Amino acid sequence: MNLLFIGDVVGSLGREMVTQYLPKLKEKYRPHLTVINGENAASGKGITEKIYRQFLDAGAQVVTLGNHAWDNREIFEFINDAKYLIRPANFPEGTPGKGIAFVKINDLEVAIINLQGRTFMSPIDCPFKKADELIELARKRTPFIFIDFHAEVTSEKQAMGWYVDGRVSAVIGTHTHVQTADNRILPEGTGYLTDVGMTGPYDGILGVEKEAVLKRFLTSMPVRFDIPKSGRGQLSAVFLELDRKTGLTKKIERIFINDDHPFYS
Ligand code: FE2
Repeated sequence: MNLLFIGDVVGSLGREMVTQYLPKLKEKYRPHLTVINGENAASGKGITEKIYRQFLDAGAQVVTLGNHAWDNREIFEFINDAKYLIRPANFPEGTPGKGIAFVKINDLEVAIINLQGRTFMSPIDCPFKKADELIELARKRTPFIFIDFHAEVTSEKQAMGWYVDGRVSAVIGTHTHVQTADNRILPEGTGYLTDVGMTGPYDGILGVEKEAVLKRFLTSMPVRFDIPKSGRGQLSAVFLELDRKTGLTKKIERIFINDDHPFYS
């Protein structure tokens, strides 16, 4: 079972990178399942139904979200009907949408879980307790369980990796927009990467126009953060090869594409 996960798609440049490279990545890695984090896909803020559908048309099966899930108000009109769009599962009870999706791949099934951290983020329910609950639910159906852990700090992400080691296929971090180089297979077989990184503008600051961010740092004045619509793009992703019987990770490979790291097929 091969899984491809594309990190935090930001704005139109990010979406263009997906359209341009996903077919090439599919040809190279032959993933059975492709997951995209799309919480910044609509101009850096949230996601629209059209963009969600574009991701599915481009070849993804599941789209995950994060702390920007509600930034585009259109989300409330379609999230409850979007079968393969998930938001962090540990958002409070009664929040629209869901935090887990099951996808059928031939005779197998994969569970995709979205969780969000709490350190330096808005207060929400405990991601560790929610992980226990959803892993128990998922394991009744499948050993293939993928977690997108949307969190700010490395320690909380590492803690999640160790906490679920051996119980899920992989824990891959999102949200910081910078890919970390610590991909590994934990001792009990769970694939782990602190952050997969961002897919979007290569010459901005975390995907935002650098001029505005610089002005903020230099003057401490309130500034509007815009997302570059043109310029150079980058794509960040991770490829996982999972054991067909145990669902655990056999191979984890980081993917980082931009002008300084060209794609080789
Ligand atoms: Fe985020």
